[in-house]
Amino acid sequence: MSDQAVFAPPPEFAASAHVGSLEAYQDLYRRAEENPEQFWSELAEKEILWYEKWSHAFEWHPPFVKWFVDGKTNASANCLDRHVEAGKGDKVALLWEGEPGDTRRITYAEMLAEVCRFANGLKQLGLQPGDRAVIYMPMVPEAVVAMLGCARIGVTHSVVFGGFSAEALKARIQDLEAQIVITADGGWRRGKEVKLKPAVDEALADCPTVRHSVVYQRTNSALPMQEGRDIWWHDFIKDQPAECPPEKLDSEHPLFVLYTSGTTGKPKGILHTTGGYLLHARLTMKWVFDLKDDDIYWCSADIGWVTGHTYIVYGPMSAGATQIMYEGAPDHPGWDRWWAIAANYKATIFYTSPTAVRAIIKQGDALPAKHDLSSLRLLGSVGEPINPAAWEWYHRVIGGGRCPIVDTWWQTETGGILIAPMPGAVPLKPGSGTLPMPGVLAEVVDFDGNPVGVDQEGFLIIKRPWPSMIRNIWGDPQRFEQQYFSRIPGIYFTGDAARRDAEGYFWILGRVDDVMNVSGHRLSTMEVESALVRHRAVAEAAVVGKPDEITGQAVCCFVTLKEGNWNHDTLGQELRQWVAHEIGSFARPAEIRFAEALPKTRSGKIMRRLLREIVTSHTVSGDVTTLEDLGVVQRLAAQHDDD
Ligand code: PRX
Repeated sequence: MSDQAVFAPPPEFAASAHVGSLEAYQDLYRRAEENPEQFWSELAEKEILWYEKWSHAFEWHPPFVKWFVDGKTNASANCLDRHVEAGKGDKVALLWEGEPGDTRRITYAEMLAEVCRFANGLKQLGLQPGDRAVIYMPMVPEAVVAMLGCARIGVTHSVVFGGFSAEALKARIQDLEAQIVITADGGWRRGKEVKLKPAVDEALADCPTVRHSVVYQRTNSALPMQEGRDIWWHDFIKDQPAECPPEKLDSEHPLFVLYTSGTTGKPKGILHTTGGYLLHARLTMKWVFDLKDDDIYWCSADIGWVTGHTYIVYGPMSAGATQIMYEGAPDHPGWDRWWAIAANYKATIFYTSPTAVRAIIKQGDALPAKHDLSSLRLLGSVGEPINPAAWEWYHRVIGGGRCPIVDTWWQTETGGILIAPMPGAVPLKPGSGTLPMPGVLAEVVDFDGNPVGVDQEGFLIIKRPWPSMIRNIWGDPQRFEQQYFSRIPGIYFTGDAARRDAEGYFWILGRVDDVMNVSGHRLSTMEVESALVRHRAVAEAAVVGKPDEITGQAVCCFVTLKEGNWNHDTLGQELRQWVAHEIGSFARPAEIRFAEALPKTRSGKIMRRLLREIVTSHTVSGDVTTLEDLGVVQRLAAQHDDD
């Protein structure tokens, strides 16, 4: 299949879609561009529950923006109370399946009651609007309850992915000066218990701001509980009433902070607020996922990443969706677990990452063929570029050739999808995120900020603020401005390279900074380097992303050693394990290369660019070359570095 293959929206799909023609999409886009105040005001009025109306749609003093200024709302009420009050309390919110096979169906009314109990528990502990809660949980419904319970009373949550280590957890709790940690004994993955509470205990030894920890019992393994600090979840909610009035919060009230890797060793706490974020989350459920009342929606992400925040919790739930939530690994007990779940619950929309698709392709077509996937009507992809071969397989084998695929480009910072097809309106080109959402003025520019021509590569920027955009880096407004608004003053710089074709379609080429994308997860080279140099044997380290057929990129480390008699084989293993311990298992390096010295500039800066060339020039195999246009990314990265 050539890069230029085009897939028009299937007529029967378009006929019932929320946005059913290219003209309808273009009309939305034009209206948002010409009169953003009116466009967003109308949508906010219609789509969001407000306690007090805003005075104007937005206020933009770069780099700071406010949306729906002075409006009052509540994210949890938008996700729950609204649906219950509209008579949909009995609609199933979550069709949950644990890895061992246990299942739960939870309605919107039940979810509301649980969230209220949990929120009342938080109040009883003295938590107040503006306090911070860190959530470190497996994929159980209680993780969603914890997030919405915090949102209900204005406590800002920060979910830390369960794969992060105690060290990483500690750094996040300390940066936030959180008052409470919500966790579990553990969760199930590949048939084994992944313990969480021991990491919390280790982290809390150095976190004096944390007064309490609530522990959900999932695996029932024996745990030490610290008297006065740790409370079992079931005891915590036992006597709490199932009503808790939602706090009337400012539209700009901090809803959550989510840490992501930047170009330094220290992760950035990306701050999102309430009104604008919710609106964008809810709208993209309609625009991109074409969500209808009877859909069975499934996003395979973990709630620890932004995809889980926006497209498991706030998007689908504010839209009143019924969704599948699965606790465990896609290959347990076999590689067809996802297809068994999709068939069993009759999923209609499925959203996952290209890494997952590629890993599943490797297992062959026979496994999906064992299951009836005819309920599916739409597929989605997120986190990294999807190569045309994986796209074609996903379309043919999983989608039966009838389901459009929405390739959604966005970032932790953008809060929601910014570039993606509206599937009933926009013809698809495999590998392209196609066209921007209404109000998203995306452009590809050169080093000086001038638009480049058709098919020319450059930096991807967004010229105007959009409702769900990052508001700040927690505690570091200077880094916020420097990171996103200094490359071209006052304009949001994405860190991605892209090109735009003659029809205005965007093709994302990869990152131009020192950020790797491993399995669709962002990881900073500097973060891995700092972990490595903390090891007693390591003198210096330089880390680069190396192309990988399954994960897109893999972590490749060059290290020089301190004086000593080191065995490279055992030390290599030890260092891989060390990084997993310091950051989390998903950051475990694929390769450790021992070097006599690292290439440096005259000023002593490690030339990662050269190392990137070394690892990419000889190892690219198969169709990975189409994943990222490495030559281009390297050229642009060079400009960016020299800046
Ligand atoms: O490089 C882009 C890539 O992932 C980065 C954002 O990572 P993160 O904040 O972890 O969020 C991932 C989930 C939204 C982007 O700068 N990326 C994300 N989606 C795509 C993508 N690259 C190409 N195509 C995509 N659809």
